[in-house]
Amino acid sequence: MTVSRRAARLAAEPPAIAAAHLRAEAAPYHPDHRPDGFVNLGTAENRLVWDLLAPRLTARRALTAQDTYYAPLHGTPALREVVAGFLSGVCRTAMDPEHLVVVSGATAALDLLASTLCDPGEAIVVPAPYYAAFELDLGGRSGARMIPAPAERDEGFRVTAESLDRVLVQARRDGVTVRAIALSSPSNPVGHVYATETLREVADVAARHDVDIITDEIYANSVFGATPFVSLLDSRVDSARPERTHMVWGFAKDFGLPGCKIGVLYSPNPRVVAAARALAYFAPTSTDTQALAAELLADPSWVDRFTTESRRRLGASYARCAGLLDDLGIPYVPAGAGFSVWIDLRGRLAEPTFAAERELWSRIFDDARVSILPGEAFGSPEPGWFRVCHATEPAIVSTGITRLGRVLEPLVAKG
Ligand SMILES: Cc1ncc(COP(=O)(O)O)c(C=O)c1O
Repeated sequence: MTVSRRAARLAAEPPAIAAAHLRAEAAPYHPDHRPDGFVNLGTAENRLVWDLLAPRLTARRALTAQDTYYAPLHGTPALREVVAGFLSGVCRTAMDPEHLVVVSGATAALDLLASTLCDPGEAIVVPAPYYAAFELDLGGRSGARMIPAPAERDEGFRVTAESLDRVLVQARRDGVTVRAIALSSPSNPVGHVYATETLREVADVAARHDVDIITDEIYANSVFGATPFVSLLDSRVDSARPERTHMVWGFAKDFGLPGCKIGVLYSPNPRVVAAARALAYFAPTSTDTQALAAELLADPSWVDRFTTESRRRLGASYARCAGLLDDLGIPYVPAGAGFSVWIDLRGRLAEPTFAAERELWSRIFDDARVSILPGEAFGSPEPGWFRVCHATEPAIVSTGITRLGRVLEPLVAKG
């Protein structure tokens, strides 16, 4: 029996981040029960907020018959209403709940957005380094291909209009139809919060080349640095072509609920919404989970307290992690958002190649039993960069970084 070519391709290329997560979580470190277990600093989860969520999520809550029935497969009206209210404030734009589509995670939202915008063989330009699953989420089923637009190390790996423009011009010369630019903002893996001016430049390039923008703003409320979050939907960024910017968000990061698989897609464009609604049929979120999420968001003062405290904890966690890296002399790009730090281990590679990066990665994984992810998985423009996630118990982060230091110690840091 054979499977389809598409299924075979997907099965042959399991995402590296998922594989590392599963291996690390199968035998996790515990100071008493498994001291030699894996320290997982590879998975971008916010494990710092469960105590804030627990009183609300574990309180006795009557399951109604309604919560067990089919609901509109693009999201219940109750959830879309409160999400629209919440995101309207975050993104400073009035969102119509009718333009929101709720699906089972931001992953599904990216998948169906790419399928809505692209036919197989068409392309999406992604500033690199990019969120590691973009290739699979945006290209795996839609058949679109990713074209990376490498960011400059000297610019701290920030997206620039020049690199996007260069890649878009080249794609046209090569006869490739590009449908969109896709970026995560705030950025994963680097943790940048983009200034309005930078976002305006991205919007201008997209307008010049007549392509759409997919903006993944799943970390919009996980900002702890000095630069405030600005959405690409904000009219201060692009008022000329509002119907060409489509946004993805979810409860996985800002609300620390990755297992609930609640993703959201918002588009001001009615044709995109209609197509996305049709595709949402294949990836709905359970009615009961939607009821739970709607209840959370229905209390704005709790939401405000929660997001404020979550940001404070993330900032403290980042500062602790940065301090540990400083102590070991490991350079990194300063972050203002998200759960991770983009660290520079170029000096510890045997040679400046991705093969050497892979070799160092397996040493860190197998010898130190620390899961961090190599830059190659994020389309890093150069070898030697790794993503370290810190949004978990301080003792775990400190154990992981100490182990990392031990593995790196014998490897001479080359200047
Ligand atoms: C930028 C970005 N988008 C989407 C996702 C996936 O979100 P979900 O778990 O809701 O599918 C992640 C998770 O790491 C992410 O970092």
